[in-house]
Amino acid sequence: MTLTSPESARADRVATRRTVLMCRPDFYTVSYRINPWMHPEDPTDTSVALAQWQTLHDLYASLGYAIELIDPEPGLPDMVYAANGGFTLDGIAYGARFQYPERGPEGPAYMRWFAEHGFEVREPVSVNEGEGDFLLVGDTILAGTGFRSDAGSHDELRRIFDREVLTLRLVNPSFYHLDTALAVLDPDPEHPAIAYLPSAFDPASLDLLEERYPGSVQVDDADAAVLGLNSFSDGRNVVIATRATGFEQSLRDRGFVPHGVDLSELLLGGGGVKCCTLELRR
Ligand code: ARG
Repeated sequence: MTLTSPESARADRVATRRTVLMCRPDFYTVSYRINPWMHPEDPTDTSVALAQWQTLHDLYASLGYAIELIDPEPGLPDMVYAANGGFTLDGIAYGARFQYPERGPEGPAYMRWFAEHGFEVREPVSVNEGEGDFLLVGDTILAGTGFRSDAGSHDELRRIFDREVLTLRLVNPSFYHLDTALAVLDPDPEHPAIAYLPSAFDPASLDLLEERYPGSVQVDDADAAVLGLNSFSDGRNVVIATRATGFEQSLRDRGFVPHGVDLSELLLGGGGVKCCTLELRR
């Protein structure tokens, strides 16, 4: 079943078992507006959000991932977007410090969880929204700035993790976190693979991406508009928004196995698959 596929296609995509942290959307709603996707005047349905989230959870379980859970807290409707809770690597958790006060208490809540679950916690000085803006590819941390995380947090990352940190500047308010504009498909340093939405980045960042990751998947506006890039990959299986059909085809062409999920209710808060997922690296 080999189709004509790009030169960069690899038939032998290998899955690595992931460990992820998730948070049930028990208190999910849209009661404030901190990104262009959010419309507090429109109704949301928490039971639909819960059912959709459960589908994602069960899909991860069927892919063999280890799933850990943090208790949701009343009054923190965005806590479901666990990716923003911090950034973990080498058993260290760099805590989040949220840009908007509505999400402020989530930072300490996640740090408490990290401390109780085997992580050495580093308290953040600069504003940063965790894995929403920081993505690990090989030994490099891609770090977003422009809307949420401050560039100062990139220096903190360098100091804490002793890894190369590449700063990428986001320019479109609809793609306000790096994980809405860029997906890591394969973090293996030998053959890293990413996908991104070119129009979400400033020219210098685009040059950097082209130089470092030539031949990457470039996603179009239609797929980006359903937060298609906000996906989670284990190196072989890529969990994406069902509606991101162009992205789905690009993934198949390159030997990945896409799995679609519908998180339409959580999209009303401006988040998708990746936002609901924080990778734990102990
Ligand atoms: N309503 C949340 C916010 O604007 C959505 C966060 C989405 N998370 C993500 N990792 N992109 O902060």
